[in-house]
Amino acid sequence: MKGVVLAGGLGTRLYPLTKITNKHLLPVYNKPMVYYPIMTLVNAGVREIMVVTGGNHAGDFLRLLGNGDEFGLKGVNYAYQEKEGGIAEALSLVEHFAEGDKLVVILGDNIIEKDIKKEVREFAGQPEGAKILLKEVPNPERFGVVTFEGDRIAGIEEKPEDPGTNYAVTGIYMYDKQIFDIIRTLEPSERRELEITDVNNRYLRKGELTYSILDGWWTDAGTFESLLRAGQLVAEKERGTKDKG
Ligand code: DAU
Repeated sequence: MKGVVLAGGLGTRLYPLTKITNKHLLPVYNKPMVYYPIMTLVNAGVREIMVVTGGNHAGDFLRLLGNGDEFGLKGVNYAYQEKEGGIAEALSLVEHFAEGDKLVVILGDNIIEKDIKKEVREFAGQPEGAKILLKEVPNPERFGVVTFEGDRIAGIEEKPEDPGTNYAVTGIYMYDKQIFDIIRTLEPSERRELEITDVNNRYLRKGELTYSILDGWWTDAGTFESLLRAGQLVAEKERGTKDKG
């Protein structure tokens, strides 16, 4: 399975921190933000990784990550998103890299406590379709939110005003090769983006969407509050590891 880190977009919610750099290069405790999603992929055994970025600071990713030696990788692949056309548009740029393989996709501002080894293994054994990872949160209206019928997902809504559950769709997604044909059929949303939630709803309608509930804490880091929280969570985790070791 191949891995994709999506690190494009303008990061306007973090302005002026993002006035002169890309959101994913900002510090989260003791590392640049983009290190965490890369580590999540590497810890799950993914060795071929493409980073999609954009804007005026794309060259800084190359300077920061180079060939991925720090992560034990032999190389890192890069793609450039010309416009901020949404998560699904950013993902469309990796078709030549995927070459028909299954993908694990992670948003560049998503940070987790534990690992996704089990989920990646499960998806490797899933004959087709997609898999999403969910997490119960206190503020679901900020995210994609699922509703259930029994234990099956009934639908996914992007940032609903009145969420039906507290289960957010995290920014960790797994897709088979149908993803690129699905993206080609999408129309831009009200915020003029190709939405990943529309992609996931397509897989759901085909009866090919599975899910797992993510173990351990999960946070994004795209707002001042969540960036601060991410730093605190990572710091606590690092201290815990040090105390044990
Ligand atoms: O964090 C999980 C949430 O991420 C999901 O629950 C939502 O369903 C999903 O739409 C997304 O919501 P956000 O509104 O928080 O996404 P945001 O626009 O902040 O983008 C998240 C990351 O996606 C960003 O750090 C980089 C990447 N991205 C985003 C856009 C709009 C790109 O690479 N290119 C883009 O054009």
